[in-house]
Amino acid sequence: MVDYIVTVATGDLAFAGTFNNVYIKLVGTKGESDRTWLTSLKWPLSFYSGTVCVTVSCPFSIGKLILVELDKQPLFVYLEDNWFPAKVEVKSPEGDTYNFPIYRWITDSEVHRFREATALRVFDDAHPLGKYSRDQELMEREEDYRWDEYLEGIPYSIRSEGPLDLPCEVRFSFTKTTEFLFTAVTGLSELGLSGLSDSTENWPDMETLHRVSCSKLTNILEYVQEHWKEDTFFGYQFLNGVNPMLIQRCSVLPNNFPVTDDMVSLSGQHTLADEMKKGNIFLCDYKRLDGLKANVVNGKKQYLMAPLVLLHKTPDDQLMPIAIQLKQTPADDNPIFCPTDSEYDWLTAKIFVRSADFNEHQLNVHLLRTHFMAEVFAVSLLRNVPMVHPLYKLLVPHTRYTLQINNLARGLLISKTGVFAKFAASGGKALRTILKRSLSSVTYRSLCIPDDIADRGLEDVPNFYYRDDGLKLWEIIHRFVQGVLSFYYIYDSEVQKDSELQMWISDIYKHGFLTQPGTGIPESFTTVAELVKFVTMVIFTCSGQHSAVNAGQFDYSGWMPNTPFTLQRPPPTTKGTTSETTMLKTFPAVNTTVNGMSTVYLLSRQSTDSVYLGQYPLEHFSEKKPRKLIEDFQRDLHELSEAITVRNVDLEVPYTYLDPKVVENSVAL
Ligand code: FE2
Repeated sequence: MVDYIVTVATGDLAFAGTFNNVYIKLVGTKGESDRTWLTSLKWPLSFYSGTVCVTVSCPFSIGKLILVELDKQPLFVYLEDNWFPAKVEVKSPEGDTYNFPIYRWITDSEVHRFREATALRVFDDAHPLGKYSRDQELMEREEDYRWDEYLEGIPYSIRSEGPLDLPCEVRFSFTKTTEFLFTAVTGLSELGLSGLSDSTENWPDMETLHRVSCSKLTNILEYVQEHWKEDTFFGYQFLNGVNPMLIQRCSVLPNNFPVTDDMVSLSGQHTLADEMKKGNIFLCDYKRLDGLKANVVNGKKQYLMAPLVLLHKTPDDQLMPIAIQLKQTPADDNPIFCPTDSEYDWLTAKIFVRSADFNEHQLNVHLLRTHFMAEVFAVSLLRNVPMVHPLYKLLVPHTRYTLQINNLARGLLISKTGVFAKFAASGGKALRTILKRSLSSVTYRSLCIPDDIADRGLEDVPNFYYRDDGLKLWEIIHRFVQGVLSFYYIYDSEVQKDSELQMWISDIYKHGFLTQPGTGIPESFTTVAELVKFVTMVIFTCSGQHSAVNAGQFDYSGWMPNTPFTLQRPPPTTKGTTSETTMLKTFPAVNTTVNGMSTVYLLSRQSTDSVYLGQYPLEHFSEKKPRKLIEDFQRDLHELSEAITVRNVDLEVPYTYLDPKVVENSVAL
């Protein structure tokens, strides 16, 4: 007889343990063990948490281990009791140690097979039993993770009736669920706004608005309250606020934005043409919002503009707004506002821009470009790539909680009865149009920050911390991904013949980008370099990019005048008709304001079980090389974090959203 020492670890999650009986069978290249009851001295609490160790005896060596089979059976007094095994380690009589990552809920009495941790591409999987279990796993996953067309013209999502309909592995943990629901329920009272959530009154004065908005200030939110009216801060937010994605260098004025030298006063008496030539003029064009029918809130028609904003980089490196036109088509009743206009004309124009920015940011930049993209990458991975594949091991940590948070977003935020329908200017029909128009603007280059910054002409704009930190983060992720993938793929031909990799990208192309060749998204991979770039983009989108457009929501939107969800009056059609009174009537009503505040508060609260970029508590890789690359990745991220901390000391408004120590591995919020 020969003995195999088997250690089974139960995951460190609430209710991970089981009172059911658990059985294991070892399967090797030369045979298999008997199905063995896993028990220990501590029975029946052995599987409650931690590890159990048993000896599995075989009459002869079963060779190199390929997989383990696990099943659990209810005891006669207990019903089926779910179990979350983390991993199995087996020491063979030959002295080898085999690891089997699991990290899955077992909820039934069926036999489940788990592969040894050494990554295997599809064409490496030569043994018939390995191949069989690989095919079985993918067949099951295709059933569990089905595509659904939530809305025609936007990326597909996972088919599910609700969070509890999602496969157990991708649901929130007990901790995450509890904290999320707690904040959702108590957000209004934590912010001291409970009594105001039903009031459809307008804000009577700025003092009242200030008084009710002060209970839970972040440092940045406090700064925003003090500086929201200032042009320098208005300009700053296009670079380092929650939406750094719209601004671009302007070398020729758009035909529909007839700004003249008479309208703008540029420092140093330069003309617009001179300044454009020097690269000092920038444009933000909200054309995606043009012609939309805005929502009705509290029974009142709302207003959503599609502004054009021109900005000037001054000699002292400030980005100053110099002209704003609130509608796309030039007309006498569509004035171009300038800083020289009356205080409230200019401020009102900026408020309409900030409100347009809220809707553009939330639907295009945040929801579509990070949440929905991350879901497409995840569903395609889960449908097409088995656990033993190196790509699964690399990417699955970057899919954590994404399917459930998106399910909640569809149900609670953008549904017909969601927060947008109730409180945002873009709620209702406009929302669908914005999402569809936005998808047509999503190109591969716009998802890759080095290309995106170059295409927008923003390489040398001063004080652009999103770009500075983002490019460094991209480089660090790229180095890590290149290290891991070039360990598994030396030749381009290996990428070409990996049918699982090819299915992954082809499904993304079809269900994420709706088979539109103009996007530049690859339909297939032909080289290792292409694969490395795409996977870098996937990890960057799920981690850094999402953090950049998510983490500052309460900071920048928690003070309503800086980011109104909606506006209740049309913009002025002539100059000289505005005042503080018209501004207060234009602002959203009290209930809209406070429900908006509590929503962005909820969406900015990370859970205590968050996993930050580069942390891989679930050990999918067992080979030395990728494990060493993970250590290098963590060291690089730590160095970037330190550098960002030092840089931020001297900044009036610290930029923290791309600091690796606050960036989560996945779109989880
Ligand atoms: Fe988010």
